[in-house]
Amino acid sequence: RVIRLAGEVLLPGLIDVHVHLREPGFEAKETIASGAAAAAAGGFTQIACMPNTKPPIDDPERVRYVLRQAKAAGAARVWPIACITKGQAGKELTDAAALKAAGAVALSDDGKGVQDGGLMRRALAQAAAAGLPVAVHAEDETIAGGGVLHAGAARRLGLPEIPPEAEAAMIARDILLAEQTGAHLHVCHVSTAQSVDLIRWAKQRGVRITAEVAPHHLLLADDAITADDAVYKVNPPLRSERDRQACVAGFLDGTLDMIATDHAPHTAEEKQKPIAEAPFGMVGIEIAFPLLYTHFVAAGRLRLAELVRRMSTRPAQAFGLAGGVIRPGGPADLVAVRLGEERVIRPEAFRSKGRNTPFAGWPVCGWPVLTVAQGRVIFDERGEPHV
Ligand code: DOR
Ligand code: ZN
Ligand code: ZN
Ligand code: ZN
Repeated sequence: RVIRLAGEVLLPGLIDVHVHLREPGFEAKETIASGAAAAAAGGFTQIACMPNTKPPIDDPERVRYVLRQAKAAGAARVWPIACITKGQAGKELTDAAALKAAGAVALSDDGKGVQDGGLMRRALAQAAAAGLPVAVHAEDETIAGGGVLHAGAARRLGLPEIPPEAEAAMIARDILLAEQTGAHLHVCHVSTAQSVDLIRWAKQRGVRITAEVAPHHLLLADDAITADDAVYKVNPPLRSERDRQACVAGFLDGTLDMIATDHAPHTAEEKQKPIAEAPFGMVGIEIAFPLLYTHFVAAGRLRLAELVRRMSTRPAQAFGLAGGVIRPGGPADLVAVRLGEERVIRPEAFRSKGRNTPFAGWPVCGWPVLTVAQGRVIFDERGEPHV
């Protein structure tokens, strides 16, 4: 197959190791098919999906179910992340080796941090033996205390706060446990200055640790929340400007290894509720590359090759995925992006069922126009037929 490009730049297929596809159980928010199509439109050829579905992905048959649905969808490849504990109850461990044999690429607590440190220690030891990374949401619920926003915004709107130490305290615990057990700890959506410092310290000690940061934590702080609009509600919350800058610095110096979107679709109905009642989460997979290209690469703060490393190579390495690179003789996993063409973000045009993004109306360039996974075209909007 010959693909004609006209000025687009060709990059390795992007990889997002943190998305919520909502199937089984919450198909009105997203399905594996709609999420994988949204990923393709965002230039992603591989995504790893979180297990906080209903039922949760906590046994081998459910891991295989995700893989079957993903294959049938025929868009971006989807790799299941399985639960650390059965039923997300934080009491009984799942079987890491069996989950890996079924196709899970990592274990995670997502949506509900494992509060019991002893249980987490056993989970990490088991994951280390099975050779799986453990992706942690990192929230100490006793500190978070049912809060909904970061301090500044919480005060302005009269809502309970999620203190930044709720994240950092859990990361500190898990770093110490990872060091002792030899497990690979993967810290999800880092959002605070304290967390960045702890991860930098852990890396200096030689702990096996990788970390991701979400586009919204790099580009927005809690001062953006001026009204009771649940589109800004996400966990971890948009933090202080100082925290945001620490995350940017950590991303630029490599302490935060990679970008992950934490794509978290919800229905319009749910997100129209007041912040106190609406669910946490933002979608992001269709706009992550243009947002970061525009605000980091075009802004002169990061080289394009480095952004690609943080959105493809490093996630592939951390989760043991092939690809992220185009190998001679292998089937291609790639994306063509139009660097120079500016377009405004329009959630109505998303392939995702979720439109809950605070970035609506932002003008950005670097839009993907063609995505190829395993040699197959999975997204094409070049406006001319390929031959
Ligand atoms: O904002 C979030 N949304 N944070 C989470 O931890 C869970 C996620 C979701 O599943 O909606
Ligand atoms: Zn999470
Ligand atoms: Zn979260
Ligand atoms: Zn998440």
